[in-house]
Amino acid sequence: MPPSKTPRSLEHSNALRERARRVVPGLAQTFSKGPLSFVGGVAPSFVSHASGAHVWDVDGNRYIDYILGLGPVILGHAHEAVNQAVAAQLARGTAFSLSHPGEVQLSELLCELIPCAEMVRFGKNGSDATSGAIRLARACTGRDKVARCGYHGWQDWYIGSTSRHKGVPEAVRALTLSFPYNGLDALDALFRAHRGEIACVILEPVTFDEPAAGYLAGVRDLCHREGALLVFDEVITGFRLHLGGAQSYFGVTPDLACFGKAMANGFPLSAIAGRADYMRQFEEVFFSFTFGGEAASIAAALATIGTMRSEPVVEALWSNGAALREGANAIIEESGLREHFTWAGLAPWTTLRCLGPAAARSLEWRSLFQQECLEQGILTHGNHMLSFAHGPEIVAATLDAYRAVFPVMAEAAAGGGPERFLRGAPMQAVMRQS
Ligand SMILES: Cc1ncc(COP(=O)(O)O)c(C=O)c1O
Repeated sequence: MPPSKTPRSLEHSNALRERARRVVPGLAQTFSKGPLSFVGGVAPSFVSHASGAHVWDVDGNRYIDYILGLGPVILGHAHEAVNQAVAAQLARGTAFSLSHPGEVQLSELLCELIPCAEMVRFGKNGSDATSGAIRLARACTGRDKVARCGYHGWQDWYIGSTSRHKGVPEAVRALTLSFPYNGLDALDALFRAHRGEIACVILEPVTFDEPAAGYLAGVRDLCHREGALLVFDEVITGFRLHLGGAQSYFGVTPDLACFGKAMANGFPLSAIAGRADYMRQFEEVFFSFTFGGEAASIAAALATIGTMRSEPVVEALWSNGAALREGANAIIEESGLREHFTWAGLAPWTTLRCLGPAAARSLEWRSLFQQECLEQGILTHGNHMLSFAHGPEIVAATLDAYRAVFPVMAEAAAGGGPERFLRGAPMQAVMRQS
């Protein structure tokens, strides 16, 4: 199916946005779904529905979806087996006042698949899992400070360490220390400067730069030398790189790991998994909420992970992702843009990286890319987040679209930059990692 082409009307989207201005501060529930993350006036603001690899906005325009609800939709939107499992659970109730057998079944399944998982607790958002892991690490070590690298959600302990820290007390901010990825010396120096104070190191095992040889094992060894726990934030990598998470893919087992997003194909569920001696502290540590164990999402996770086991989902993410990355890089090359852009990252999750002089204005360049993609029927923040529904046909349609997108980027590169070609306000950074 070719993507839908211009002209697009955004009339209904724009009307809803005007209504939202009166009642929804920030206009969306998530920064990444709101105005900061899309080119003003060019992008739709409201989605009507989605199926497989496609999403339709409220004006009926169809897009190939590379945002996928910010990552959860690993099988494709409205996946039949997941919907059926959820429907069956809906008919039997979703919120109970005792535990449900599905919680035990899903915990057993995760313990079978994930190397560090000896016990498991569930949350709803990735932030529940990362914040629960931090509290657990503090309880296990009796230490207050945390070293972090990467994005870990909305809670005080993490967001206070970024530029978007309004509302977070200084005393809390002072407890979170940042370190750069792939720099063992910097982490070592942090441990030496805060000897005996760091409860844990939390990091995304990989984003768009691969770990240097020995890096992840080196982080683990440093943590253990210093009596701190190693926590892998696998909220994105979990199930996308490997059914056992990035820890299986890279062969480095952390003490605790956090999962979310893709584990239930769009239903709200997250998990902390880890060593039993640490996890047992949850008998005392408060990690407890009304919707913990909510049964529809547990059913969705059992169906999602079941499908990932019975069908070659992860293999398809790798092979289709590689075809897309290589095809897109060839189009960049053909467009004479090799020195400006490249698609970076492991095949299931890649990003359009701006190079050389383009790097200084990467938000503007990525905005131009988004604008031109929207005109070609592709919804993107400039990443390839693939689902199982993004098969070879979708990859081919995307590459066809890119044959129209990158020549515009080339014209902009030759003609003084992206600003002249943008038809609305560019995307803005939600925050800076300080
Ligand atoms: C690596 C990582 N950790 C944690 C989170 C927080 O998850 P949530 O937004 O579900 O709270 C995110 C969300 O994007 C994430 O990408």
